[in-house]
Amino acid sequence: MTDLELVAAAIEAREHSYSPYSHFAVGAALLCSDGTVYRGCNMENAAYSPGICAERAAIYKAVFDGQRDFAAIAIVGGPAGRPISELCAPCGVCRQVMREFCDPASFRIILAQSPDACEVHTLEELLPLSFGPNNLGN
Ligand code: THU
Repeated sequence: MTDLELVAAAIEAREHSYSPYSHFAVGAALLCSDGTVYRGCNMENAAYSPGICAERAAIYKAVFDGQRDFAAIAIVGGPAGRPISELCAPCGVCRQVMREFCDPASFRIILAQSPDACEVHTLEELLPLSFGPNNLGN
């Protein structure tokens, strides 16, 4: 699975976004170490707080299936119904959820505007000096 293919999967996932309140549609594609890809989209709610980001939707789907070993995630987002014109970085809550399951030094976060315009960061870069399972002896 190339970065390009993972970005294409995120773009496809974004088509499923349920974002009637923010009108900001996000898609994510999470690559497991065994090569499996889990896609997620943001899902909003009339009560607002039950909404979930695309990244966490993908991670929770994967964990539910017994996956806990992740290599990378591709993220695309922007105003719904329009082509993506900016990079969409993960929110702080999603970064912390990544920290629960992913190695900060090696987990790759691919922010994409299109399959051929993206930048790659490690989780460590986006969440420095983090608190994780190891802090609790796990
Ligand atoms: N959102 C995501 O799904 N991922 C991000 O990285 C940033 C924000 C969603 C949450 C909400 O549904 C909408 O985008 C606007 O914040």
